[in-house]
Amino acid sequence: MTTGDTPRLKIGMLGVGAAAQWYYLPATKLWSDRLDLKAVCDLDIDRARHFGELYGADAVFTDYEQMLSNADINAVAILTPHERHAEEVLLAIEHGKHVLIEKPMAGSLADAEAICEAAEAQGIQVSCAPPNMLHPGQRRLMQLVSSGAIGEVSLVRNTRSSMGPGSRPGAPTDFSWFYQSGAGGMSSMAGYGLIKMTAVLGPVKSLSAMSCISMPERIMRDGPAKGKVVQVDVPDNNVMVLDFGNNTLGTMDTGYVMMASEAPDMELFGTEGTLSTYGGDQVEKIRLYKDDWKTDVAGWQDVDIPNLESRMSKHPSTLLSLADAVLDGKPLVNGPRHMVHVVEVIEKTWLAAKTRQTVDLTTTFPMVSWEDLPFETSTAKLV
Ligand SMILES: NC(=O)c1ccc[n+]([C@@H]2O[C@H](COP(=O)([O-])OP(=O)(O)OC[C@H]3O[C@@H](n4cnc5c(N)ncnc54)[C@H](O)[C@@H]3O)[C@@H](O)[C@H]2O)c1
Repeated sequence: MTTGDTPRLKIGMLGVGAAAQWYYLPATKLWSDRLDLKAVCDLDIDRARHFGELYGADAVFTDYEQMLSNADINAVAILTPHERHAEEVLLAIEHGKHVLIEKPMAGSLADAEAICEAAEAQGIQVSCAPPNMLHPGQRRLMQLVSSGAIGEVSLVRNTRSSMGPGSRPGAPTDFSWFYQSGAGGMSSMAGYGLIKMTAVLGPVKSLSAMSCISMPERIMRDGPAKGKVVQVDVPDNNVMVLDFGNNTLGTMDTGYVMMASEAPDMELFGTEGTLSTYGGDQVEKIRLYKDDWKTDVAGWQDVDIPNLESRMSKHPSTLLSLADAVLDGKPLVNGPRHMVHVVEVIEKTWLAAKTRQTVDLTTTFPMVSWEDLPFETSTAKLV
């Protein structure tokens, strides 16, 4: 686990597709002070061999259980299609391995809760993507709201939609599974917006929703599946109405029907002002509106975000937070209880849309103060 005196997380990477190639494999190289790539595993043996060699892994596997049993690892990074996640996390826990799990952690509330229980019973750390809780912009946003910058929040408007994987040039793999049962735009995108919002406002208490398939056919634009026509069989267009309790309401859209938007990703409307956030998945930019008759301060202003370029602002920062938790015993602020709530919001959105009813939620999660979020100053080239 060490290079010289420095402890490092010994990682086995499951799935070396797009997310691995774009984010996690480069992270193991650029952040080698904390991360040590020991093994890779992919069903596609040529892909596994190629990227294992390129990034200096000691061992290459096509069978996950073989990697768990035989590789010299203390953690796995699970980067596979969504419907496999719960089973793969539970197997890692069974083998005593700490886990980085890409979003979503599981496809059902029951599976998400089973993961938490197994991990807690065995002292296993489960670091969950997306990495919103690690991002300097999220920390700044939570600081602003808790300091009363906009007073009491009454309303939130949140959008986390895109046009979906495979809609732009540059696909390294066949992304068609994202549009089919077991995945879908909400499973892929909602976590970013839900974590961003619930970290500030607390858990959703009840919701109603509508969902539909707006674009029943997709054509993969680039990469190995270029030209492939995909029949969409899971809703790609979802709108929720959310009740956070305390007379605070919200709306959120999530799915694969938004080519571009000039609106803020999230707006929080409070008794003393408005906060708008921009940047897509993460809070990269914040603007504050005040109309304070006591101090005569009125209008919009940009808010600074300290350390916006730190490593914690990059997508695979979840591996760093896992290393901090496993090697140094630091609290994991992107742990699985928050993700259980996200999985429940997704599940209850399907239910509310299907039944046309308002549905109550049952889960909560430990609220984290902005002061307890990581504040790393080192920077990295990784985007
Ligand atoms: N594509 C993106 O833009 C993106 C961005 C951030 C996060 N993610 C997340 O990363 C995860 C993976 O997505 P992706 O885009 O890399 O998908 P992908 O299809 O590009 O890669 C998945 C890889 O897993 C491998 N695989 C599938 N089943 C396997 C099995 N049983 N054993 C071993 N390997 C197996 C596939 O061969 C493939 O190489 C998902 O949770 C996704 O939500 C994707």
